[in-house]
Amino acid sequence: MHTNVWYVDENVDSEKSYPQIVEAAECLKQNEVVAFPTETVYGLGGNALSEEAVAKIFQAKGRPADNPLIVHVASRPHVEKLVTSIPKQADDLMNAFWPGPLTIVLPGGQSVARNVTAGLDTVAIRMPNHPVALAILKAANLPLAAPSANLSGKPSPTSADHVIHDLSGRIAGIVDGGSTGVGLESTVVDCSGDVVTILRPGGVTKEQLEEVVGEVKVDPALSDDGQKPKSPGVKYKHYAPTAPVTLVDGSEKHLQTIVDKRRAEGLKIGILATEESKSLYQADIIIPCGSRDDLISVANRLYDVLRQFDESDVDEIYSEIFTHEGVGAAVMNRLSKAANNRVIKE
Ligand code: TXA
Ligand code: MG
Repeated sequence: MHTNVWYVDENVDSEKSYPQIVEAAECLKQNEVVAFPTETVYGLGGNALSEEAVAKIFQAKGRPADNPLIVHVASRPHVEKLVTSIPKQADDLMNAFWPGPLTIVLPGGQSVARNVTAGLDTVAIRMPNHPVALAILKAANLPLAAPSANLSGKPSPTSADHVIHDLSGRIAGIVDGGSTGVGLESTVVDCSGDVVTILRPGGVTKEQLEEVVGEVKVDPALSDDGQKPKSPGVKYKHYAPTAPVTLVDGSEKHLQTIVDKRRAEGLKIGILATEESKSLYQADIIIPCGSRDDLISVANRLYDVLRQFDESDVDEIYSEIFTHEGVGAAVMNRLSKAANNRVIKE
């Protein structure tokens, strides 16, 4: 399949019409799938009302069918058509964080294609805060199902190049609107029960949610491997470069000792470091992932750094760890999954 690339300015006015966006929207209306930027990561969009379009999303990504998709909308009336009710807490969260990196799981989903929700009686919805995403949603005038636009299991794409690397030839088109902002996927919260529950940490932190709705729970499955997660996608190994990643919970010196030992055994080793620590290490490749003083910069860089390791020929990757506070919760959630929960404690 030929994959079209449409270049657009990341600051388009989502109220205006642009020929590239009209073409991309036409493709979507014909039930083809098109990747586009959001403020978190690139999404792979398809008509959420069409089983055929949604099947193409699963096919292109190689995504397991039991992992439901997030439906993206540009306006509140679209939400009302997709759900059976909007609990007060959900309404408050939409007012506070939409458009933005918050996905809300609501009762309903009978009006989207069956394969969007993977048979659940809830549907996950988000209004993205990116002018290009909003312009496409408005031009297509459809709710768009859109998972991250990577091959299943690979780090999510934060640039059009990442999408082209994974999906060129497998999808109808890509709208290239530059790099994404947050760099990690949206926070997913369940609002179908009594207490708002975080199913996946992301750009909006627990602390920020609590300011709006009071007590917020975290799905116990996020910290306990034995539990069945409420967000099916959370159980899959994810975000992983080809070389195995191990987190090192300890000093830089300890990390270096581990690396020295493996290199003495003839292995090529990469280190995921920070701007502050990069010059302290010796390894085959050392990649700084933002600044430890600024967790947002770590979130921003993480997927690109994991992909850069794939371009190198390292056998193993060792990574520093970060705090679990604020955005750190999302960073550590993704890093732990990239490492398949392998941690060495000093
Ligand atoms: O930032 C994002 O959320 C990006 C951009 C493109 O919007 N999208 C994204 O989609 O990360 P994806 O498919 O990679 O992750 C969707 C997550 C999965 O963990 C999935 O299991 C969960 O949302 N999910 C979807 N529908 C659900 C539902 N009804 N109940 C619980 N979890 C759900
Ligand atoms: Mg994903």
